[in-house]
Amino acid sequence: SGQLNDLAVKAGLKYFGTALGEGVINSDSQYAAILNDKSMFGQLVPENGMKWDATEPSRGQFSYSSGDITANTAKKNGQGLRCHALVWYSQLPSWVSSGSWTRESLTSVIATHMNNVMGHYKGQCYAWDVINEAINDDGQSWRDSVFLRTFGTDYFPLSFNLAKKADPDTKLYYNDYNLEYNQAKTDRAVELVKIVQNAGAPIDGVGFQAHLIVGSTPGRSQLATTLKRFTALGVEVAYTELDIRHSSLPPSSSALVTQGNDFANVVGSCIDTPNCVGVTVWGFTDKHSWIPNTFPGEGDAMLYDSSYNKKPAWTSVSSVLAAA
Ligand code: G3I
Repeated sequence: SGQLNDLAVKAGLKYFGTALGEGVINSDSQYAAILNDKSMFGQLVPENGMKWDATEPSRGQFSYSSGDITANTAKKNGQGLRCHALVWYSQLPSWVSSGSWTRESLTSVIATHMNNVMGHYKGQCYAWDVINEAINDDGQSWRDSVFLRTFGTDYFPLSFNLAKKADPDTKLYYNDYNLEYNQAKTDRAVELVKIVQNAGAPIDGVGFQAHLIVGSTPGRSQLATTLKRFTALGVEVAYTELDIRHSSLPPSSSALVTQGNDFANVVGSCIDTPNCVGVTVWGFTDKHSWIPNTFPGEGDAMLYDSSYNKKPAWTSVSSVLAAA
């Protein structure tokens, strides 16, 4: 059909996927039509619905209404599902982040959370992001959180061990951003994988979020070199939250071409890396994006413009996949 998931599968990837915006899917029919097309997106991930604040807002009170939007959409369409995210400092309800815990009591909280949430989605998740964003932006140290304060780095293997018990069949991922630049933060992620492995705990994958910037995205071979640092450790890799934003708006026509080249380099690096399993974009239209809220004045990071026209980036991705 020439759509991106079909091309990705022909190129040897397992999927080309997208995040699903829970607040958008039922209110924007053009959005829904593209998202529901399996030849375009072979896998979905909930943008917010499976996070701790959505699934266990108060202790022992579980809610799956938001997460089920994505799980049920994927099921209905025959699409795969990535599941996101379990142990994360953000979107963590205050009963967890401000609780006073011992190792024992927080272990039980994490286990209960995983047993319920992973149990609810058992058999549906290709992968779970077990730990998300545990590294400080400068790459020099571990990110502060109730988990780090309670366990030190022991929470890395502990989380993966508990996740394995809760769902033995899903792939267990570490997921973070700015790993793409192959600098200190990347070194720290390699260290995290080794900490987990040296403790004898299971880790199957590393997710490169790839929230990137037009004109500052590394080249295809540099990106592949970085991915291979992780596959050399015996884990798979994936791009999990790809978007490439313009740092000033509106973009010029040449900036749109650069954006397309940057997208092609990211997708191409996955094609070039055995055990890079797929690419997920964090949204697909400039009409709906998390970016302007976080980076005011920046954006237009997606494959479709805000009127659902395919941008040069769409064509660049389709070309790089077709050429594989
Ligand atoms: O649902 C409430 C709504 O009821 C309320 O009226 C409104 C007012 O602020 O907020 C709504 O919640 C927002 C939620 O998105 C749903 O739209 C939160 O404020 C807002 O903080 C939240 O932002 C999400 C962000 O994670 C939070 O950290 C973004 O949608 C989501 O795209 C973003 O995703 C993260 C990944 O999970 C991890 N990697 C980085 C990525 C981008 O920040």
